[in-house]
Amino acid sequence: MALQLRVFVPPHPLIKHWLGVARDANTPSSLFRTSMTELGRWLTYEATREWLPTMDRMIETPLAPCPATFINPQVPTVIVPILRAGLALMEGAQAVLPLASVYHVGFVRNEETLEASCYLNKLPESLSAETRVLVSEPMLATGGTIMAAMADLTSRGISVENIRIISIVTSPSALQRLADAYPQLNIYAATIDEGLDDNGYIVPGLGDAGDRTFGT
Ligand code: URA
Repeated sequence: MALQLRVFVPPHPLIKHWLGVARDANTPSSLFRTSMTELGRWLTYEATREWLPTMDRMIETPLAPCPATFINPQVPTVIVPILRAGLALMEGAQAVLPLASVYHVGFVRNEETLEASCYLNKLPESLSAETRVLVSEPMLATGGTIMAAMADLTSRGISVENIRIISIVTSPSALQRLADAYPQLNIYAATIDEGLDDNGYIVPGLGDAGDRTFGT
């Protein structure tokens, strides 16, 4: 099946720069965290383009009446970081979306089957269909975790068109799984890499994003 979902790799020099810093095995954990924050910031900026609902109203400048456009506060915007590594993008994402609620979701990967199981889910039972959901998942490797997260989100009434994923490094196989199940989904990524090694790590990738973020 052809890749139908939309994967955007913004051609921004700051995204390229911070991706290079993050990939470098010599980058210490403190600078790695900075790179994740910056990538979270710029990918969130790109992902929210033509997605956040706006409303128009007249305001008064000090000189004259003027039409103005604002973010519509009636439509909830939420961020869903997938623990652990999804936390690394949060500082940057929240800098762009300071009013968004944050619902943490935790998955752990079974290193033999590579499938994900959920150990924490702070999402409310239901969310209104128009809620904008930004999912933070830096590594889309086998796709097991993101597929489980997507199934959970859509089961709570969120429409796929209103979900956007920010990710740093993606693999073709994870993108294919998402495309097959959710052709309307939009993903904003810093790169699409070649593939996976035998342990399910993305190559060339950047290693274990959680370990490098938290220095473990
Ligand atoms: N998770 C990571 O942190 N890195 C990978 O390469 C794959 C999954």
